Amino acid sequence: MGDSKKFPDSFVWGVAASSYQIEGAADRDGRTPSIWDTFSETPGKVYGGHTGALACEHYVRYPEDVRLMAQLGVKHYRFSVSWSRIFPEKGVLNERGLAFYRSLLEEMEKHGITPLLTLYHWDLPQWIQDEGGWVNRNTIDYYLDYARVMFATFGADVPIWNTINEPWCAAILGYGVGVHAPGHTNWREAIVAAHHLLLASGLAIREYRKFGLTGRIGITLNLDHNDSATEDERDEAARRRHDGHLNRWFLDPLYKEDYPEDMKAWYHPRIGEFDFIVPGDMEIIGEPGDFLGVNYYTRTVIREGNDHPVLLTEQVVQEGCEVTDMGWEVHPESLFKLLCRIRDDYADIPIYITENGAAQDDHMVDGKIEDADRIRYLQAHLEQALRFIRIGGNLQGYYLWSFLDNFEWAYGYGKRFGIIHVDFGTQIRTPKQSAYWYRNVMLAGGLPG
Ligand code: NOJ
Repeated sequence: MGDSKKFPDSFVWGVAASSYQIEGAADRDGRTPSIWDTFSETPGKVYGGHTGALACEHYVRYPEDVRLMAQLGVKHYRFSVSWSRIFPEKGVLNERGLAFYRSLLEEMEKHGITPLLTLYHWDLPQWIQDEGGWVNRNTIDYYLDYARVMFATFGADVPIWNTINEPWCAAILGYGVGVHAPGHTNWREAIVAAHHLLLASGLAIREYRKFGLTGRIGITLNLDHNDSATEDERDEAARRRHDGHLNRWFLDPLYKEDYPEDMKAWYHPRIGEFDFIVPGDMEIIGEPGDFLGVNYYTRTVIREGNDHPVLLTEQVVQEGCEVTDMGWEVHPESLFKLLCRIRDDYADIPIYITENGAAQDDHMVDGKIEDADRIRYLQAHLEQALRFIRIGGNLQGYYLWSFLDNFEWAYGYGKRFGIIHVDFGTQIRTPKQSAYWYRNVMLAGGLPG
């Protein structure tokens, strides 16, 4: 590698995963069900009736998994904690749940791997959902009880914290569209849940600071760059609504302490009064994090239509464009545009790309997985990340999604995002070509070519 594609020496290179998607051991050591256990056990909700009951058995295989990371030269690992292992019932703290994460962190430390710990990656304890879940404001108190325990127990060992992963998915897909747990289809619930998730994040940031810890804490959003399918003003208006509900509905409150007016006006006749916003809420949501986590996968092309019952939009996949196995358009330049927009329209804050990667239709041939399409995807996106850094952008790290093939939510085990192949029958792990490619990138601190 020449120096032409070298990243700054301080750049964080990592891999990412989440508790429900890899741990399995759903009823081990006192864990109780989360909403994802309930949802995936409900017929018709998840592809093939798959559940996370076994997943990658990471709960027992974590020493092997961490060793594999180390062998590939991984220095940073983003994982999440299963809340129902820590608080399996109301008011009951489970030491055995804490013990698992202590062992995981010890194993990582042994191998020189630095943790980024996500407190909430969608696996809400079912007992909290039984009281209304994220629609109920009291859930924030339960979340803060949990966050405090985590800060007190692991604050000294974990330098980077994520409060909430992708509140849009948790709220909108979970309570509005219904394709994620808990599977409700009520748009008011979705918007209320989103508000409570943002509040929970702001309050957790304040709590963290009370502990006097020296690490960093921030939220992670799923964001896109979007284009209008045509120049027709109706399509452009539809694009603005899509952008308003996915990007601005989250970025505006975080950085401008208000929800966007145009979207409030659009939602009002559809969901009723915004009486769930209590005075003081917006300042809490605006509590500055130390960084913004960005999960980026694709750009979206939008026109007016009836696919989305509330937004009256339709997503178009344009003829001839490359898509991943999820059907998501491969559009690396949109990552650059998104990063610029965050800086220009919101804040010049430190950014970590907390997820980026591709599901591909991998095949094992003679024991090898030649996932050239995934390597191309990763290389192209990292080039755009570097482009942003080169113009002075404050991008400080990249966590590849994902380390292992895993439970891809409503798609079950049908979609593979890993750079490590997992045979879900035998649990054998096999690094794909992309894992060796990423090892070289991390080693060199930059891209080939
Ligand atoms: C975002 C989510 O955080 C993660 O859990 C999921 O597997 C990836 N996107 C891919 O869809």
